[in-house]
Amino acid sequence: MCPESLPESLPESFSESEARTEIERLTQALHHHNYRYYALDDPEITDQEYDRLLRQLQELETRYPHLKSADSPSQRVGVEPLSSFAEVAHLQPMLSLDNAFSDDEVSDFDRRIRERLNWREPLAYVCEPKLDGVAVSLLYEQGVLVRGATRGDGRTGEDISANVRTIASIPLRLQGDSVPPLVEVRGEIYMSRAGFEALNNAARDSGEKSFVNPRNAAAGSLRQLDSRITAARPLAIFAYGVGFSEDWPLPAEHYLVLQQLRSWGFPVNPLVEVAEDIDGCFAYYQRLAQSRDSLDYDIDGIVYKVNDLALQKRLGFVARAPRWAIARKFPAQEMSTRLLDVEFQVGRTGAVTPVARLEPVFVGGVTVSNATLHNRDEIERLDVRIGDTVIVRRAGDVIPQIVKVVETERPADARPIVFPEHCPVCGSPVESVGGEAAMRCSGGLVCGAQRKQAIIHFASRKAMDIDGLGEKLIEQLVDAGLVHSVADLYSLESADLVGLERMAQKSADNVVSALEASKATTLARFLYALGIREVGEATAQALANHFITIEKLATASEEDLQQVADVGPVVAHFVREFFSAEDNLAIVRQLREQGVHWPDPVASDSGSAILKGQVWVLTGSLETMSRTEAKEKLQQLGAKVAGSVSAKTTCVVAAPGAGSKLNKATELGIEVLDEDGFVALLHEQGLL
Ligand code: IVH
Repeated sequence: MCPESLPESLPESFSESEARTEIERLTQALHHHNYRYYALDDPEITDQEYDRLLRQLQELETRYPHLKSADSPSQRVGVEPLSSFAEVAHLQPMLSLDNAFSDDEVSDFDRRIRERLNWREPLAYVCEPKLDGVAVSLLYEQGVLVRGATRGDGRTGEDISANVRTIASIPLRLQGDSVPPLVEVRGEIYMSRAGFEALNNAARDSGEKSFVNPRNAAAGSLRQLDSRITAARPLAIFAYGVGFSEDWPLPAEHYLVLQQLRSWGFPVNPLVEVAEDIDGCFAYYQRLAQSRDSLDYDIDGIVYKVNDLALQKRLGFVARAPRWAIARKFPAQEMSTRLLDVEFQVGRTGAVTPVARLEPVFVGGVTVSNATLHNRDEIERLDVRIGDTVIVRRAGDVIPQIVKVVETERPADARPIVFPEHCPVCGSPVESVGGEAAMRCSGGLVCGAQRKQAIIHFASRKAMDIDGLGEKLIEQLVDAGLVHSVADLYSLESADLVGLERMAQKSADNVVSALEASKATTLARFLYALGIREVGEATAQALANHFITIEKLATASEEDLQQVADVGPVVAHFVREFFSAEDNLAIVRQLREQGVHWPDPVASDSGSAILKGQVWVLTGSLETMSRTEAKEKLQQLGAKVAGSVSAKTTCVVAAPGAGSKLNKATELGIEVLDEDGFVALLHEQGLL
């Protein structure tokens, strides 16, 4: 399977039989690469190469429509809209689960089933995250996906075949040679939190209705009669079981069923584990409850399933739920509370954000008393008023949001929210610019709030990383007139600081030393610290890698800027605008005159970027430096730093605690450096 050997465009002179062979070859290759990407998380080719193969297949199928196969990967883009969904009867009912809300209820469950089985030993359970998405049944005949259906009432659901075919992580053809003639796979279709945020932001920007949560977004996307709309939605699947099957030798354990699903090509949640007894289940709950916020998808609990399938069979079902499984629920991510008031905050770019003050409510595992209302349009869209009962959602590390108003509970004295016409901090007019949803204070750096936020950003960990220069101190410095812009920071002396709130001589000295230490930085950090609109960490790094010097960047045209991967017209415009303003250039100049510096780029420019063209992967947690630092140093040496190990990886840095990436590297025979080796390399290159 060597994509490099494929011609860019296919010859015109294909005979029909050559076309048939080529279509089958491309189809096989695309299924294979899908499997590598989604089931193994270990791609062999880039996304661009994959797209090229797909385009070639589409080109051939357009020329020879009758040769298109039932499992053609070209169906991923969607087909002509339907007028309605057909009803389908499930071959085996789709059940639901009983819930448990405490460890005691889980203990009861374990005791109940052991009594029923007369089982005195500990029972092993498979612990699975309970995905908060939409259950789906996928039917495969001779390994080819022939039908996808919703759960419906458990006995009949809706035929959503065209929609599920657009979901890239659902195999259109099962892989491997142990494929039964008929098998029904069950799983949960979900939308990642990042995908959901992006979809909702786009909806808000274009004035469309946004979704309340990722589950509603996933359900709404699957209910589209036009599968081309579904194709554009960021949906994915985790498979968790097999329903009906024919001629399939059932494995002895549920865990082995999951492994079979993985080898057929399904993503199976990587956090699934076997607990040897019920105490193991409790420990799993604790661990998962801790990592819940850092996952990129919503889970509403854990499903515990008896691992032994023979025991599952003996236990059977009650009403609509199995006796052998239970769902241990997490605290809800959505709760209702009262909106007490709305205040308006001014951010670094002048955006005036309405912030809701709420009656404190326990949601997503913490007590929440503030939530964002985004902007003026959002207030109108929600039609929210002070005094309303609202639904608050808190998931992951995203700021809590108001997603809905409970209109039936609106009190008679609910007050409309009035968006201010003047900045609540500096009094300058608040304006909307160029059709943006955001309303901005027009005061620029006259506005104390904007200045404070710009300095807070400049000093933050991922920017200049000035230890001890926190929000409270910056507020005092600006209010006392000691600091007007970031350029004033480096003129501060201990004497200026001593006497400010909670600033004794020692802390003042520490801040001054931290300022001094922060002067040695990298170009990427410096660019990020400047707070150019739309230039986040990744964009700053891309700009630094591309332009190498700040002089080249500052004089680049918008066209030059758009040569950088991921820099579009909007970012290019903001960068150009920033470096066109004399005030900004003066600040950059002053900062450099005061000693802010970064490594001389000559090394990487003159071809001595010794890792140029190489792909490195970091795993484990380094003891001598942060992962960000390690990444920056590798990038300075010209390497690309990737998140996962593949055949393209040149070298893996394995720090203490390295896990599956290290195993994969060893399997693939890829060079591995331990932390000492990595540190030695950086020393040799003068980077330490
Ligand atoms: S097993 C008979 N496993 O939870 C067993 N369900 O309340 C039924 N769900 O409709 C399902 N993650 O949509 C199972 N790892 C998981 C799950 C899971 C999410 C959903 C599923 C089902 C609902 C049951």
